[in-house]
Amino acid sequence: MRVRAVICGGPELATSAAALGLIPTDDARADIALLDLRDGAAIAKAAALRRDLPRVVVIGEAEGEIVRALGIADQVVATSCEPAALGPLIASVLPAARRHATRSILVTAARGGAGTSLLAANLARRLAPSHATLALDVTGGAGLGWWLGASPAGWQDLEGLADELSAQHLAVVATEAVAGLRLAGGPPLAPSVAVARAALRAGLELCELVVVDAPNIAELRTKELAAMVDRVLVLTYDDPVSLAALATSELPPGAWIIGSQSTASAMIGREIFRSLPRSDRDIAAAAGGARVVGGALGAAYDELADLLLIDTT
Ligand SMILES: Nc1ncnc2c1ncn2[C@@H]1O[C@H](COP(=O)(O)OP(=O)(O)O)[C@@H](O)[C@H]1O
Ligand SMILES: [Mg+2]
Repeated sequence: MRVRAVICGGPELATSAAALGLIPTDDARADIALLDLRDGAAIAKAAALRRDLPRVVVIGEAEGEIVRALGIADQVVATSCEPAALGPLIASVLPAARRHATRSILVTAARGGAGTSLLAANLARRLAPSHATLALDVTGGAGLGWWLGASPAGWQDLEGLADELSAQHLAVVATEAVAGLRLAGGPPLAPSVAVARAALRAGLELCELVVVDAPNIAELRTKELAAMVDRVLVLTYDDPVSLAALATSELPPGAWIIGSQSTASAMIGREIFRSLPRSDRDIAAAAGGARVVGGALGAAYDELADLLLIDTT
């Protein structure tokens, strides 16, 4: 979903809004207003906006007392212009009617080894604290389970059920990885298309959000599930083989193309939505510890999760 915002503030706020994918607009068409209360001109601009337009405000120390005195909810008050601070606030004030809730997210790649399972695991971990989340591994690999620190049951036991696979069945086989986050599907075999589809449907009954770790974009399972989900993320390197794969694949409309260890802003003429930095160190630290990626790569995962949260109810 695209969120339209009136930006009342300086360049810092505008940059943050752009990073969050907000579309700058005027009062009449806006869903929200972003207002920097530290800026006198911004206050004057905001004062003229319609009063029923939801506001998210950025304050400094001086404004804190006024905001508290007015009883303005903490929910709409940020103490910095950072996208990570504003994203969740924006999500919480968006009028319910304007939300076309994203509930299912599929992560795939132009080719193998691009960091798909790592991205899926780290997004699921970041979404789970606010939304009951199911991480669904339809790759048949062990990556997602490993990064979530859980050993899910394999698909073979569900294969006989196919279309009859229900939320109750899935609840039995899904393992709780961390609080609010369940995991279903794992090695040694990938599921059939029918079971993968049924698991996604059942997962949406069982949990608020489903994050699918899918094989690369050319796989039938990926194509079928990509057509069912609300948001597709396609990871890609900028090497010639990945570019050739991208150029010849049918990318789902509205897919976010995510650069993997690349700084390119466009590939095959398509805009790169966000890029993940290369960071062997952050990955090694996570692998040797709690398996949650931090550092610069973790911050990039945070930002993507925040953007997805804007699209969820
Ligand atoms: N941003 C990154 N920087 C450095 N190494 C990465 C990054 N993302 C993934 N990797 C490495 O790439 C390998 C494959 O990651 P994985 O998530 O299993 O890929 P996929 O699921 O696409 O096959 C892993 O060993 C991981 O350590
Ligand atoms: Mg994988």
